[in-house]
Amino acid sequence: MTRATAHILLLGSGTVGSSLLRILARRRQVMVDASGLDLRVVAIAGRTETAFVRAGLDLDRWREAPRRPTDIPALIEVVAGLERPLLVDCTASDGMHGVYIRALSRGLDVVTANKNPFVVDPARHAALFAAARETRRRIFYETTVGADLPVLAPIIDRVRSGDTIRLIEGSLSGTLGFLADAVSRGEGLPAAVAEARARGYTEPDPTEDLSGRDVARKALILARELGLRLTLEDVELEPFVPSTTLARAREASLEVALAEAAPLFAARTERLRKEGRLIRYLAQVQPLSRTPLRVGPVVVGSDHPAAQLRGTEALVAIHSERAGDVTIVVRGPGAGGDATASGVLADIVRAVG
Ligand SMILES: NC(=O)c1ccc[n+]([C@@H]2O[C@H](COP(=O)([O-])OP(=O)(O)OC[C@H]3O[C@@H](n4cnc5c(N)ncnc54)[C@H](OP(=O)(O)O)[C@@H]3O)[C@@H](O)[C@H]2O)c1
Repeated sequence: MTRATAHILLLGSGTVGSSLLRILARRRQVMVDASGLDLRVVAIAGRTETAFVRAGLDLDRWREAPRRPTDIPALIEVVAGLERPLLVDCTASDGMHGVYIRALSRGLDVVTANKNPFVVDPARHAALFAAARETRRRIFYETTVGADLPVLAPIIDRVRSGDTIRLIEGSLSGTLGFLADAVSRGEGLPAAVAEARARGYTEPDPTEDLSGRDVARKALILARELGLRLTLEDVELEPFVPSTTLARAREASLEVALAEAAPLFAARTERLRKEGRLIRYLAQVQPLSRTPLRVGPVVVGSDHPAAQLRGTEALVAIHSERAGDVTIVVRGPGAGGDATASGVLADIVRAVG
């Protein structure tokens, strides 16, 4: 029996959005039977066009549904008039901060995989959460850091219950995790990047991944959960490859730049391998340190939790006062469209539940 019906305005049907729609198309009835939740997607908005059916789109054929020009404020108004309205953001747009505030003020809860609204300056960041409190609505953004991995919830629970977090270390990029694993096992840098690209792990321009900027955004989101009023400029960011290699890639090509960097990279990883050590690309949030936010390659021993990571696996290790010498470790599939969509769905269920 249906316990709750929710009406979804979905922004973005790219990798994550379309994966979410596929899962919903397959699992909607199972969810109704299992938990009584009937999730209806009323609108699927792209940058310019929106598929819209007030009673809920047929998710097997939504691409054939009636279309209208995208007008997000108008869509929020329509969905606001329906039972349990939700805004689900699967875009990478940096214009969503104001959209969320509008949605919250019209009674929508917000579920999002988009990091950008959470890395704005601290005052605007605070204003977003103040809007949620004032409107008694909620924002669910677990997937912004660890995709399908529950990363933020355990940290938020500890902070709220008065624990002091001393250090969070995270391997938060599937792509850089894959590359770090490959080069640490002796694969050459150019071959490792080519393989990551062929498997669809990288951005269309892999220098985006190699720069570490996406990990810096995730690290900032983590840091803000600990109450640190920092900005992206405060992240001490070291790219996966030297900055000179990224500059060379811009001026020549990525292939040329990686080939030139490869011998030094190989010599270093080979030396580390002989010492039984590995490279991992980690975000480190250390509230009491003089560099509270660091993102970059880290040499780890075989006893480090990140040493066991394989392929695109992600990990977050939390060291807190209450946990003492015990490290809290969350590890699993932390990247990719399907994993993220699965995490978005979990957040939707939390929002409605
Ligand atoms: N892919 C992953 O593994 C992963 C993991 C964790 C988090 N995320 C996050 O999830 C989000 C989506 O990632 P993705 O890989 O699915 O990106 P994507 O494939 O580039 O898809 C983005 C979609 O957003 C739409 N869009 C952009 N601006 C819009 C706007 N203003 N209004 C409505 N729609 C808009 C685009 O529509 P048009 O086609 O009309 O331009 C496109 O369909 C990003 O924020 C990303 O950082 C992704």
